Amino acid sequence: MTTAVTNAHLRGRDGLWTIAIVADGTIASLDPVQPGGAPADPTVIDADGGLVLPAFIDCHLHLDLAYSLDLVAPNTSGTLVEAIGHWSEAKRELTAENVRQRALRAIDDEISFGVGHIRTHVDVGTAAEMRLCEGILAAREATRERIDIQIVVFPQDGIVQDPGALEQMREAMRLGCDVIGGIAHNERTEADSRRHIDLLFDLAEEFDADIDCHIDETDDPRSRCTEVLAAKTVERGWQGRVTASHVCALASYDDEHAARVISLLVEGRVHVITNPGVNLHLQGRGDRYPKRRGLTRVSELIDAGINVSAGQDCIRDPFYPLGTGNMLEVGHLLIHADHLSTPAGIERVADCITDNPAKALRLDGYGLAVGKRADLVILDAADMTEVFRTRQAPRCVLRGGRRVMGC
Ligand code: FE2
Repeated sequence: MTTAVTNAHLRGRDGLWTIAIVADGTIASLDPVQPGGAPADPTVIDADGGLVLPAFIDCHLHLDLAYSLDLVAPNTSGTLVEAIGHWSEAKRELTAENVRQRALRAIDDEISFGVGHIRTHVDVGTAAEMRLCEGILAAREATRERIDIQIVVFPQDGIVQDPGALEQMREAMRLGCDVIGGIAHNERTEADSRRHIDLLFDLAEEFDADIDCHIDETDDPRSRCTEVLAAKTVERGWQGRVTASHVCALASYDDEHAARVISLLVEGRVHVITNPGVNLHLQGRGDRYPKRRGLTRVSELIDAGINVSAGQDCIRDPFYPLGTGNMLEVGHLLIHADHLSTPAGIERVADCITDNPAKALRLDGYGLAVGKRADLVILDAADMTEVFRTRQAPRCVLRGGRRVMGC
């Protein structure tokens, strides 16, 4: 058990600090380092001037897809539509054990990069049945001492156009999943997309659960699901409990309509998650030049007061052949894609992989503050710009004061 981390740089504070940790694994105090250096105590970790952050959060991941690239037909167009098609076929053959093993590999990757909390989506529906969900539940159980995982039930093939999905979603929630997922734009018609969103709120009420919906993951400016989700959030009284993931079409709307949608998101206190690597890769495929970047309007959303986070989304799967589980790489891509390389921009991106997703996932005990759980990463670099520049794995990862990795 670690009793303190000393000689640590902290975000937003000058000088070096000591973080004291008590036996229940929470942070007892944050104090400036006194002259004379650290005591020779084996329970005290010397950060040696490195930056210490709360553990990273990967708020949008598909553990059931991780490392599936070689199990599916090649995605020759590189598009979302082709990936969904190949995955729909492949998942009919997957066993829960295959899913569990691939998920465990990805979870180990994420832990090695200092991720302490994951929100993963898991496919449920006619093609997936409950096999993928069972594999992910088993992987969560096997790793619960090392990482926290929220599971979102995700009807990848739609709900209206996949009539078996709704009951599978219910079953997955009964088995222990946490959040109602959706993919509102993946229905046959606009009316079906609206129906899809209504069904998400019905399920959320039934299970008293939050919602995290893939939405408008397209460059098509006529895709208008986000405004429906935001308006329904207000209508159904679910403010603060809904997350809109991707929201790519917002970047293709004209400014006037985008402003209207953003004001609805503010009214619903809807959280937004962007997945910069995957959306840079999947979107803009139909463009000549200039090519759209595909990400939602990250800076405008933050300026409007919306809680924005960033996720890895995919690790070596038919949607995205790259991805490592390193949230610093996700941040690095976001810095480039949304011109967030100013000092203030860098801090915003740091928030997108720490404090902001903690709000979206409603993690009460999270943060580098007195009384919070000592889930910490100790980095070699001394400031956030250098942390993103080098993107190195943490030297040490603590969970509730216990050493999970390194040191
Ligand atoms: Fe996703």
